[in-house]
Amino acid sequence: MTTVWISGAEEILRPPEDGLPYLRHDRAGELRLEGGDLMLSGDRIDTFSGDVDLRVDATGCAVLPGFVDCHTHLPFAGWRADEYEMQVTGVPYEEISRRGGGIAASARAFSATDDAAVLAQAAGLAAEMLQSGTTTFEGKTGYGLSVDAERRAARLGRALGEQVAQTTTVTGLFAHAVPQGFTADAWMDEVEGIVDATDVDALDIYVESVAFANEHLERLGRIAAAHDLPLRAHVEQFATNRSVPIAVAAGARSVDHLACLHPDDLVPLAASETAAVLLPGAEFLGAEQVAPGRALADAGAICVLGTDLNPGTSPVSSLPAIIGLAVRRYGWSVREALLACTLNAAYVLGMSDAAGSIEAGKRADVILLDTPASHLPYRFARNPVCAVFVAGRPAWVRPDSAWRLQGSV
Ligand code: NIG
Ligand code: FE
Repeated sequence: MTTVWISGAEEILRPPEDGLPYLRHDRAGELRLEGGDLMLSGDRIDTFSGDVDLRVDATGCAVLPGFVDCHTHLPFAGWRADEYEMQVTGVPYEEISRRGGGIAASARAFSATDDAAVLAQAAGLAAEMLQSGTTTFEGKTGYGLSVDAERRAARLGRALGEQVAQTTTVTGLFAHAVPQGFTADAWMDEVEGIVDATDVDALDIYVESVAFANEHLERLGRIAAAHDLPLRAHVEQFATNRSVPIAVAAGARSVDHLACLHPDDLVPLAASETAAVLLPGAEFLGAEQVAPGRALADAGAICVLGTDLNPGTSPVSSLPAIIGLAVRRYGWSVREALLACTLNAAYVLGMSDAAGSIEAGKRADVILLDTPASHLPYRFARNPVCAVFVAGRPAWVRPDSAWRLQGSV
């Protein structure tokens, strides 16, 4: 078993106690950021033992659990930069969708791209994410828009997991847009069949005027319960549809976006075990409303951040950039932002027993910043990640930080 000794860190992020499945955001201030040393034994975080194969000089560094990105749309094919220019010059997202752009445009690209090319693009993005500190991520289907293509997306999502350094999960976003030739109701009949036949870790739906309605969310909740799969939902992104109470009543693991959350739905959401996944990249680039991140945190919600990496609303792969946006726009502390893309994001993926915090026995996914944690949002858009360990082994080291590692594993 190989051992790694990370010593002299200026800060190590630790939870207030071990074994927490999540930490509500009104307790984020209890996260500890104290100097110290850390042992990795094999693929686990450990307490000190004598033999060391690799010594890591963490002087001046913050040591954090690897980031968990619980909301991406990988895999997808190509990009939609032309639509971004339309949006910034005044054409709304819903209008672009109605003209055949948006999700439908990415579905056409997905069907025109062979498996190897789809995987190559996604693996390239995963490598980018690794260098920004993401050691676990979720991907979704949703750019298939036919039974066969949705199943292909799920299969490619699994294949991606085999290729990349990170731990990954696959969410079936089979109800993303209503395919041509179907009503939303008729497509939900197909979704039921896809779920029966496809290997996924969770289910998701997009509730919006250009997509599905609350009754379809209720129906997906029943499908998820029957298959013992966590329910997630894209809700209240561009309009207030009052989907949150329905998702909470269905026991959803998360509600995602929430830029247009109804004020009356905030406290019940915060009191529930449904996580509030906020996506400030989509909010910023789409000139959306700003989700009530400060109020959710104060009310004790399980707050989470994700990139929402997708070719339409958020072509962003960097959680450090998302942290910078969240701190400024929600009025969050650094601890609040870190909690939202570590332990609480692992909770959304059902992985907080193994990932998301630095605790003895958890997977040895840890990252080094070349600054204290406070510099993450402060030096906005700079990537301070200088070394990434996945399962106890160096998965990426920035060339100018190679001197920090002495020995081999
Ligand atoms: O999370 N809102 C729905 N789904 C994606 C966007 C998909 C797209 O435009 O390609 C999102 O923002
Ligand atoms: Fe999304």
